[in-house]
Amino acid sequence: MSDSQTVSAAVAKLYNTYPFPPEPLLDEPPPGYNWRWNWLAAYNFCTNQKPQKQDIRVLDAGCGTGVGTEYLVHLNPQAAVVGIDLSVGALAVAKERCQRSGANRVEFHHLSIYDVEQLAGEFDFINCVGVLHHLPDPIRGIQALAKKLAPGGLMHIFVYGELGRWEIRLMQKAIALLQGDKRGDYRDGVQVGRQVFSSLPENNRIVKYEKQRWAMENKRDECFADMYVHPQEIDYNVETLFELIDASGLEFIGFSNPGFWQLDRLLGKAPELVERAKNLNERQLYRLIELLDPEVTHYEFFLGRPPIINADWSDHNALLSAIPERNPCIDGFPSQCIFNYDYQIVNLSELELAFLQACDAQATVAEILASVQLGLDGVKTLIKQQLVMLTSNEKC
Ligand SMILES: C[S@@+](CC[C@H](N)C(=O)[O-])C[C@H]1O[C@@H](n2cnc3c(N)ncnc32)[C@H](O)[C@@H]1O
Repeated sequence: MSDSQTVSAAVAKLYNTYPFPPEPLLDEPPPGYNWRWNWLAAYNFCTNQKPQKQDIRVLDAGCGTGVGTEYLVHLNPQAAVVGIDLSVGALAVAKERCQRSGANRVEFHHLSIYDVEQLAGEFDFINCVGVLHHLPDPIRGIQALAKKLAPGGLMHIFVYGELGRWEIRLMQKAIALLQGDKRGDYRDGVQVGRQVFSSLPENNRIVKYEKQRWAMENKRDECFADMYVHPQEIDYNVETLFELIDASGLEFIGFSNPGFWQLDRLLGKAPELVERAKNLNERQLYRLIELLDPEVTHYEFFLGRPPIINADWSDHNALLSAIPERNPCIDGFPSQCIFNYDYQIVNLSELELAFLQACDAQATVAEILASVQLGLDGVKTLIKQQLVMLTSNEKC
């Protein structure tokens, strides 16, 4: 076996012992949503417009026990979904999970990301959450996935960040030292780790961090093992993250938690510093933000295979003739107080509410504005907040 195969075998063994994530199986669709798994909302986030098609092919790469896969099926009613994973144990849970909740537009394959070319065809949307950092060669992994992304397609990725996982890495190394040649026995690792935590002083830095950030989820051994006794983990910073992204050959569209990546929230009290930062390029700016706020435990972002066309709707004729629809991830509608796609509370004016109510996927912006006096600036605000998504209606 090559080194890489030995690592992959160790990773598969971990997840066969502790399939992850350990969310309970339900006999109905899972509650709530994550907009990043909703093709319409994700596409609108990335391009500022509704996608042209919804009968898409979705790949959940490293699907684990299928928590994300199940959402991908239920949130995208016209999609055909494929889940792949290295762990037979995790796949067995994923299959049962989807079967029980009626998520039947899905097939699963016991396949490494490295071998994804064995799947037929291309995918419009690839989701790869919590996986690439566990590959011995993440660049090989992302390149294999990139080859399967259709032109105009999107990839959603989540990888670990080194700054916010510093204490976790220390604990991982400590457990490995204490395990000695029992390393690779994951049940033993969990037991050793739990003993360490219960014997360290209460004000110990690693204990405090664990209590503050992770203790709730780590009550489950699957989560504890995933965090502290993993045989393979590569953590990123902004610089190494962009090396990975550049190697994919895909376009970086943006972080899917853009609120974090705003310098104003850190240096807003010093406008002269914000002004100085305008000399930085995008990556330097992101680096500055993480240096000033080193809580980054992970990066989540979208990549795309060109052509990815970002609509700006500055042409008023184009905007007036476009057809608006409500973002499918709005919750609590119709009401003046709703949750937006990212589950943030939004208070609507009466006119905004009336406009959103008139969005029936048929009427154009101009037709709705004829009876709802919101004005084009009001419509632009709704677009900016991603409460509506638009389909161009211009004759080519
Ligand atoms: C932390 S879990 C994430 C599961 C799922 N994506 C989620 O977020 O709920 C990581 C998963 O990646 C799988 N994995 C690791 N290396 C892989 C590879 N080379 N190819 C396919 N799956 C892999 C593991 O077996 C495990 O199920």
